[in-house]
Amino acid sequence: MPTIESILNESRLFPPTTDFAQQGNISGSAAYQQLCTQAEKNHQEFWAEQAKKYILWHKPFTQTLDDSNQPFFQWFSDGELNVSFNCLDRHLATQPDKTAIIFESDEGETIRSTYRDLHQRVCKLANALKALGIDKGDCVIIYMPMRIEAVVAMQACARIGAIHSVVFGGFSSKSLHERITNAGAKAIITADEQVRGGKRHALKATVDEAISMGGTESVKKVIVYQRSGSDVPFDPARDVWWHDITQNASNDCEPEWVNAEHPLFTLYTSGSTGKPKGVQHSSAGYLLGTMVSMQWVFDYKPSDIFWCTADVGWITGHSYVAYGPLAMGATQIIFEGVPTYPHAGRFWEIVDKHQVTTFYTAPTAIRSLVKLGADLPEKYNLSSLRLLGSVGEPINPEAWMWYYEKVGRSRCPIVDTWWQTETGSHMIAPLPGVVSLKPGSCTRPLPGIAAAIVDENGQDIEPGEGGFLVIKKPFPSQVRTLWNDPERFKKTYFPQEIANGQYYLAGDSAYCDKDGYFWIMGRIDDVLNVSGHRLGTMEIESALVANPLVAEAAVVGKPHDVKGEAVVAFVVLKGDFPQEDSKAGIVSQLREWVAQEIGPIAKPDEIRFGENLPKTRSGKIMRRLLRALAQGEAITQDISTLENPAILDQLRQAN
Ligand code: WTA
Repeated sequence: MPTIESILNESRLFPPTTDFAQQGNISGSAAYQQLCTQAEKNHQEFWAEQAKKYILWHKPFTQTLDDSNQPFFQWFSDGELNVSFNCLDRHLATQPDKTAIIFESDEGETIRSTYRDLHQRVCKLANALKALGIDKGDCVIIYMPMRIEAVVAMQACARIGAIHSVVFGGFSSKSLHERITNAGAKAIITADEQVRGGKRHALKATVDEAISMGGTESVKKVIVYQRSGSDVPFDPARDVWWHDITQNASNDCEPEWVNAEHPLFTLYTSGSTGKPKGVQHSSAGYLLGTMVSMQWVFDYKPSDIFWCTADVGWITGHSYVAYGPLAMGATQIIFEGVPTYPHAGRFWEIVDKHQVTTFYTAPTAIRSLVKLGADLPEKYNLSSLRLLGSVGEPINPEAWMWYYEKVGRSRCPIVDTWWQTETGSHMIAPLPGVVSLKPGSCTRPLPGIAAAIVDENGQDIEPGEGGFLVIKKPFPSQVRTLWNDPERFKKTYFPQEIANGQYYLAGDSAYCDKDGYFWIMGRIDDVLNVSGHRLGTMEIESALVANPLVAEAAVVGKPHDVKGEAVVAFVVLKGDFPQEDSKAGIVSQLREWVAQEIGPIAKPDEIRFGENLPKTRSGKIMRRLLRALAQGEAITQDISTLENPAILDQLRQAN
């Protein structure tokens, strides 16, 4: 695998500068070692101490970890708290007038919201939701543009103990429908439209379409925020305007005190088979993970202007937009638009304009910005930056160096953070004042995170050799279960086949180098990582097969300069093998189809037709072969088990 080779050759080392090390929240290797040793010596005591230090408890906990029903671990389970109280009310006494959010709209307008203002907005919506009959434990789907109101909606749910499930605004009505029905949502919070990159995209109309697909009787109310002011369909019996219901609602809303294990949210993510998985997070453990990582990894300072560019539709936007920064009392940027509109310098312009200190984005964004203007950052004053971050996929050393030199001007450490929807917060990442960086490595596990690389039997693997990335001990921010599917939760994350189900299996392969640094190699399941978004090959295949023209489909990934991985689909049509002149038409029809079924991010980059797919004699599709074909590699694998070898020539032809 080429990525592994290029990473293996990496020998550059970037120790923290003296200036950075001196001001670090964790400063000096002795302090770092002490944290690690303390966590190793008494894992539970270590986490109990953090939970007392960071969280404001309504009722203190007495039990730290309850592991009596493995792998359904519970943390701090007799404690009570409210996450929204921890993010907002705690700051009212100390810094009510501090800016919580600097919002930058697609058009370039800036709106500021202080902690006092944000608290009021959240309370108003929380009261309005209660008046609509939404109670503790009810599920609320949030399908919103990237605006202050998206965060307000999430926080309002947290305030009343409702469980939110945010659906990324780029998902289609089909995907939305699947999530509404799986969650049994009682309400949906949406907007008329979203505006990104100068274009309008329907949200409310998409919600209506999803509801009309049936099985959505649970949905009693749809709350519509007016973003663009366009005419949208409106059902007066079911739909209400955000501005109407909040107008006269009170500015105060007593938080609903919930148990530490009360679900804060579910978030759907791709798995290798079947439907997306509703990853369920707790209240206290999750919040704790976001807070300690803000402190340790982002080296959070009250004077920071923090900017995580992720959409709230992904876990990164949950942990490092909607919760972590607010709980810490930070000032953060929320940006509605895209990095390339109205010009490719938009990110750098925002950094310059708002004096951003901490900038956190994805390798795919970095690669596309290199392509669009490698020298563009030079045109802006980026001297406010002090820390850079990366998440979502391995960052290739070339992109790392560009980010370091051109954006960080060789002054700012880069924290390459490995984690997942399921882990809730950073797991493996450098503490920037202490750990020396290696481009392409997420470095070392955080204190209290027992990450390791093991073989099938759970034995630790020698440095330099690839194996399964696992986390050996439970940790507070981990996924609690899959919504409505505890069996799938067990099978996916604690499978019997790997180390008898005793460790959390991340689904990634990785290796450690001789210095104990972790290098992520890729997924072990059939999940693609396209532009930092996890897509199950099964989901795309099912979407293709749902098209009346398609008999069979297999989807694989292939390396892509900007997106990391590109989607390549091998398709068998129901009718005759397509004529040369009709291929292009069918390809664009199928690409549009997938965009409709799942969302534009899942559109295949390439579609190849065959009269058949390469299969073993037992009928299994040989994906290894398809991967080699997609990458234009010579077939070196053993194809003696292949039932229909002649098919390979046909599939080798790209359209
Ligand atoms: C990949 C995103 C290498 C990995 C927070 C993981 C990474 C999946 C990194 C989770 C990183 C994420 N280096 N690979 N720094 N961060 N990944 O659930 O394969 O959208 O399992 O969470 O992305 O993706 P998810």
